Amino acid sequence: MEKWSLMTIIVLLGLTVRWLVSFGSYSGAGKPPMYGDYEAQRHWQEITYNLPIKQWYFNTSDNNLQYWGLDYPPLTAYHSLLCAYVAKLINPNWIALHASRGYESQPHKLFMRATVLVADLLVYIPAVIVYCYYLKETSTKKKISSAICILLYPGLILIDYGHFQYNSVSLGFALWGVLLLSYDWDLLGSLAFCLAINYKQMELYHSLPFFCFLLGKCFQKGFTGKGLVLLIKLAFTVVASFAVCWLPFCTEVEQILQVLRRLFPIDRGLFEDKVANIWCTLSILVKIKDVLSPQIQLKLSFAITFLSLLPTCIKLTLQPSLRGFKFALASCALSFFLFSFQVHEKSILLVSLPVCLIINEVPFMSTWFLLVSTFSLLPLLLKDGLLLAYIVTTLGFITVCVTSFSMFEKTSEDDLQLKSLSLSIRGYMPSFKAFPEIIKSLFLVSVTLMGILTLMSATLNPPQRLPDIFPVSVSVVSCLHFLFFLMYFNAVILWDSRNGRSQKKTS
Ligand SMILES: *[C@@H]1O[C@H](CO)[C@@H](O)[C@H](O)[C@H]1NC(C)=O
Repeated sequence: MEKWSLMTIIVLLGLTVRWLVSFGSYSGAGKPPMYGDYEAQRHWQEITYNLPIKQWYFNTSDNNLQYWGLDYPPLTAYHSLLCAYVAKLINPNWIALHASRGYESQPHKLFMRATVLVADLLVYIPAVIVYCYYLKETSTKKKISSAICILLYPGLILIDYGHFQYNSVSLGFALWGVLLLSYDWDLLGSLAFCLAINYKQMELYHSLPFFCFLLGKCFQKGFTGKGLVLLIKLAFTVVASFAVCWLPFCTEVEQILQVLRRLFPIDRGLFEDKVANIWCTLSILVKIKDVLSPQIQLKLSFAITFLSLLPTCIKLTLQPSLRGFKFALASCALSFFLFSFQVHEKSILLVSLPVCLIINEVPFMSTWFLLVSTFSLLPLLLKDGLLLAYIVTTLGFITVCVTSFSMFEKTSEDDLQLKSLSLSIRGYMPSFKAFPEIIKSLFLVSVTLMGILTLMSATLNPPQRLPDIFPVSVSVVSCLHFLFFLMYFNAVILWDSRNGRSQKKTS
């Protein structure tokens, strides 16, 4: 009973922070002709409400795709339609075809913010609470600490309630998927994950760990008997849930192809804008986009992403464990973020979600990653006028994590889960025992650097010759951090011997 009342207080705290951030500005506020993501979401309500489904993804005289054309899968479109019905009841002008373009008003902002909050309350927040409440082999204190840290993670709050998006819906469905799989409700878990993919195609970053974990489970049950039955049931669930989500578009092949073309715009190039991934960072040195043809860029990014995912996926398939699954979600999403094609800065949230899920296992590294991921969004947040919200939520988050996990005391090799790696290194270099020291010093350097860069971006005018110097520095620094974290996650996953040992014991 007491645990539930604590959880209630945490939820109220999380809601308060969300509510306060939502008073801030949003993407593209008062910036015609294109505005920003807020207008995109409003425009989709206008389009889905006024046009027949057949036209949603097509360029027509009523639907100019160059102006925020729908580029998310059907569930996002249905969600927009649902919001549009509510909008129509309150004020039809909000979704009037053509006439509502760039509509902005205080009541409308309140309405839009409320739709985000409702979606969050229905999908993401309950998933977090249930996930933390039922964490296995975890003390009550740790469960409470995890819940409060996850719900106060600034990155997601700032993007959804500041910038304006509905990431908590797709991330929430993915979290329900993890949660259900961890209790062996494999079919429901796959259904939840299919909903996540059908809300935002970026959820594909999580798809390989889901696939490998479930495949590994099937193998474990024996590939002919129970395992095969499970595999068939899973395949059926996935196909059926996709079919239901896409049903209105299944009238013609051309409809499906057009939606797919909108979801995967490969002709938009390797990257746009400043993203803290490897391609954007490398292109400071070499103008990759000019040197390589688009075809080669596509193949190169595909090959490197695939190679960086491979070890983790093989390990997860051969030794499926819940812990390995969560780490693999973080590492694979990070590989996609760093190496794949057409990545957006907000996609770092797809890495942050699984990192939130391991915060009770590796509090120090998770907190650090979550700080860096929020920092990597800084240029976007500055553009949206969310500096104050960024600083306050980040400081609050650090305080909560440091106090609730005593994270600075959790830096031994065991706490960092690097014991077996350092044992194998010691096999070659007997004097090696430096991980905790190295990691602690790196953390101090990193936090100082992020602090200085935040201050400089917020207060200084860039020199005329280098107008992009601050956003570029932020993305390079973040990218270096992410490479480091990718190595860390892979080290933990590949040197995880617990699984192997427990299997040997049982056999
Ligand atoms: C799409 O339609 C709009 C009018 O709604 C038109 O101005 C635009 O040129 C069209 N774009 C393409 C690529 O056909």
